[in-house]
Amino acid sequence: PRQRTVTVLGETYPTDDYTNLPPTIAELLERRLHVTPPHPLNTIRKLIASHFEGFKSYDDLPAVVTPALNFDSLGFPPDHPGRARGQSYYINRGIMLRTHTSAHEVDIYRQTPRSGGWLCTADVYRRDEIDRSHYPAFHQTEGARLVNVADMDKLKAENEELRRGIKASRIIMEDCPDFDAITNPLQASHLPETVLPMAQNLKLRITTLFMSIFPPSTTPLHVRWTPDIFPWTSPSFQLEVRYRDAWLELLGCGIILDDTIARGGHNPAEERSWAFGMGIERIAMPLFGVPDIRLFWSKDERFWKQFKDGQVSKFQEFSKYPPVERDIAFWLPVGMAKPHAASHAAGGEVGGWEENDLWDIIREVGGDLVEDVKIFDDFWNEAKGRRSLAIRITFRSMERSLERAEVNEITDEITAKLTARLAVEIR
Ligand code: PHE
Repeated sequence: PRQRTVTVLGETYPTDDYTNLPPTIAELLERRLHVTPPHPLNTIRKLIASHFEGFKSYDDLPAVVTPALNFDSLGFPPDHPGRARGQSYYINRGIMLRTHTSAHEVDIYRQTPRSGGWLCTADVYRRDEIDRSHYPAFHQTEGARLVNVADMDKLKAENEELRRGIKASRIIMEDCPDFDAITNPLQASHLPETVLPMAQNLKLRITTLFMSIFPPSTTPLHVRWTPDIFPWTSPSFQLEVRYRDAWLELLGCGIILDDTIARGGHNPAEERSWAFGMGIERIAMPLFGVPDIRLFWSKDERFWKQFKDGQVSKFQEFSKYPPVERDIAFWLPVGMAKPHAASHAAGGEVGGWEENDLWDIIREVGGDLVEDVKIFDDFWNEAKGRRSLAIRITFRSMERSLERAEVNEITDEITAKLTARLAVEIR
């Protein structure tokens, strides 16, 4: 028999014949990776926001939505395959997990002033296979810009400037026709004079985004635009990037349909809007060198510790083999200062005791097998007039499970060297 209720983000919902949300997926909603520093997805979110200056960010919208919001508000037909239980996660018939950030478009347009722009980054959910580049939960950033039809000359001038910047960069951009009567038609009410600069602005703003995100020193970035189809945009495009000898789909975008503009509280006779939605893992993987999409969900501190908030750095793969820990406790030589008594400003040097000597000896003996060293106890014994330290060394190999005997031998050698060189007394 099925559970009568499910709890998602602390809310309890009744289930029905549509329910297909497993607890393992429901738990992912709690993670909020895209707003948690120093996670790479949080950094990507911020990099994108800094490129779209003046756009208002919505990064905290809950993933539990209605099918009306996720599909109907955007004009998805009733039989669209995305609605199927096989493709989306349903809490029950009336409540689901958003499959894209576009689910919030109409609501956000309603809060956006004329000629305004906005961004929305969020976790999205689609039933999918799991491998190195697919996971049923991922993240998207949606962006949109409203432009008054009276401002098209200003937009054209902006486009010229953006185009000059791209020419001077290491981006190779293959464009596709903005309008194509068959796959990518202009909306009946739209004049090419207003839609052409809009479509160009959309493509140029996204291309310059990638220019600013990917470091200029790398080999040329090859991108191409192809026509696409979405129920609430026309014309519509897809952007692909050349990565490891294949074209990787990065985003979908287009010129918003008048119906959707109107649902969002704007006047389609006076305003045009472009919008895009992109998967940000697809950007973070090559940028941070993360080889497997599942790593983004890791709770292992060896993943988290490698990143700094707002900074792009290359990820170092870590081992799947188990760690082996060894503790060593010792008295420092008599006469060493109390902890914190002397100045720590002198690079950790306290009364002749140099912490770095300790790290050097451990590294010298243990080499790459030493993953981490921590001081977990540090106290002053008044009677003895001596300071005691206890350290924990974590050993781990990238290639194999370590033998106890081997780790013991290394630990013995570290102990011997500490005693000989630093005159400590093992406890
Ligand atoms: N939501 C679309 C997707 O997930 C992308 C998109 C966003 C397309 C905005 C057009 C406009 O594929």
